[in-house]
Amino acid sequence: MLQIQDVVKTFGRQTAVDGVSLDLEPGVVGLIGHNGAGKSTLLQMLATLTVPTRGRILLDGQDIVAKPEAMRRRLGYLPQDFGVYPHLTAREFLQYFAALKGVGDKRRVRQLLELVNLHEHADRAAAGFSGGMRQRLGIAQALLNDPDVLIVDEPTAGLDPEERLRFRRLLGDLGAKRLVIVSTHIVSDVENMASRLAILRQGRLVAFETPEAMLARAAGQVWTSLLSPEAYEALRGQVRVLQAQPQGGQMQVRIAHASRPCADAQPAQPTLEEALMAQRYADAQVAA
Ligand SMILES: Nc1ncnc2c1ncn2[C@@H]1O[C@H](COP(=O)(O)OP(=O)(O)OP(=O)(O)O)[C@@H](O)[C@H]1O
Ligand SMILES: [Mg+2]
Repeated sequence: MLQIQDVVKTFGRQTAVDGVSLDLEPGVVGLIGHNGAGKSTLLQMLATLTVPTRGRILLDGQDIVAKPEAMRRRLGYLPQDFGVYPHLTAREFLQYFAALKGVGDKRRVRQLLELVNLHEHADRAAAGFSGGMRQRLGIAQALLNDPDVLIVDEPTAGLDPEERLRFRRLLGDLGAKRLVIVSTHIVSDVENMASRLAILRQGRLVAFETPEAMLARAAGQVWTSLLSPEAYEALRGQVRVLQAQPQGGQMQVRIAHASRPCADAQPAQPTLEEALMAQRYADAQVAA
């Protein structure tokens, strides 16, 4: 559906996106990367808000750089720095965007207020909304044209755990019949809803796979051990410590390592976050 072919974006001497290729089909894709990894830059190119320095992006075979209109008609986009207009109510806000986007169906605003669970607050000014309510209003805005491609850039930043959960569920539902691309630096945000994860590091795509495959690759690389403070000190410089918790004068640790890091270490089931960290460490070892 959406093909990203060797896309590069540079700003002066800085390369923000460095030769990314991805073939995306409907479903939820999690775009994971640290601050500055190039997530927003990549998403802005997909949203036709900036053009690649090099490479091509195709939607159903059509070049979206040469002809952005087709993408724009089928696109919903929630930018990272999305802001609501504080004086408008939720309903007015959506009516405003419906008019801008040429969405004529009067029922659409009400349907969307219900979908994002804001109907009870529809006539309140957005100034008084919580972060989660604002993000849900942002998603409703992005869904006005019933897009085939929904792009949301770090939608859960600043949300409390309950709002985060609700938001994740909403995005998961939306992915049932369209391509949803969600960027985040928090793996747990996407692990239960994304069918594929794309990992960006310094502008490069370092993995594109299912969460299951990522977990399978990390199998046998995560270990637990209960160490004396001395043993912990000696080991911590040599292995990647994922977690360390003091316990009765000793240290309960989780470690990423390609082989058993110390005599009494037990193999542990990696979490997705750990799988990613273990992989990062494996890359670093190769680089060294
Ligand atoms: N308009 C711009 N001009 C110059 N440099 C830019 C511009 N936009 C992004 N960059 C640089 O490109 C790199 C990638 O930035 P980008 O915002 O895409 O990362 P990100 O993964 O979205 O980060 P974050 O998690 O902080 O949102 C960064 O080093 C950033 O400083
Ligand atoms: Mg960003």
